[in-house]
Amino acid sequence: MITIRNLWKKFGKLQVLAGMDLEVKSGETLVILGPSGIGKSVLLKHIIGILKPDDGSVDVDGVEITSLRGSELLRAVRHMGMLFQGGALFDSMSVEDNAAFYLREHGDPHTGKKVSHAEINDRVSHALELVGLAGTQKKMPSELSGGMRKRAALARVIVYRPQIVLYDEPTTGLDPIIAMQINELIVKTQEELKATSIVVTHDMFSALYVGDRLALIRDGKIAHLAEPDEFLKIDDPLIKFLYTTISQDPRTLKEKNHHG
Ligand SMILES: Nc1ncnc2c1ncn2[C@@H]1O[C@H](COP(=O)(O)OP(=O)(O)OP(=O)(O)O)[C@@H](O)[C@H]1O
Ligand SMILES: [Mg+2]
Repeated sequence: MITIRNLWKKFGKLQVLAGMDLEVKSGETLVILGPSGIGKSVLLKHIIGILKPDDGSVDVDGVEITSLRGSELLRAVRHMGMLFQGGALFDSMSVEDNAAFYLREHGDPHTGKKVSHAEINDRVSHALELVGLAGTQKKMPSELSGGMRKRAALARVIVYRPQIVLYDEPTTGLDPIIAMQINELIVKTQEELKATSIVVTHDMFSALYVGDRLALIRDGKIAHLAEPDEFLKIDDPLIKFLYTTISQDPRTLKEKNHHG
């Protein structure tokens, strides 16, 4: 479980997080919605320990991580993986080396033990297949399109198999077919790894497809948090608007794909 209590963060005069409270249950997929610049990426970076708050706490599976530094922090967040907005591949490394990076660097996310070359290679080719990039191992990021880069970054997270996965805009800027494959991957990762996932998105179709609960950020806090049915009933202009952006309710489609 991830428990965020009274989190505050300011950049210069800009108050981004202002006493945010949030609980993420183990095994759920929580979707975070909110307009551009509201602090969604900043929140994820606090959860994985890249940013330190001005005040408040972030407890990940019983460990308060905001006070940790260096190797202690690395150990505490080893079982987490993040898909960064924009991909964030290492430009000087091949797709293969990018995809293998966390595993080589940290070992197994659960035990910290080294993973063999053969297994890393297997996992990399499997993950590249899953994201539709089979056979691109030797390519450099500069040779890939924007959407391919994003999928390569997703492969890097899949290869690592973290227990907690943070996805920052996983489907933004991708064509609808690839976006749907990524939604499926998020659902499958949750089912197979019993992973806890937090998905930041502007894509309401994706939000309803993957989300067990949906949250809306406003004024540095969680303004609303509810299961999809309840969330859609909330009388809030932004939620109403987001719902008008989709032409089909993805949940019926998900029922068909997963139970039919
Ligand atoms: N390291 C930083 N230094 C200074 N300001 C920052 C930093 N990181 C984020 N900000 C500011 O904090 C605010 C929130 O940024 P954040 O990236 O979390 O927005 P977001 O909700 O993810 O937006 P988007 O939907 O466009 O990705 C923005 O005004 C941004 O400029
Ligand atoms: Mg962002």
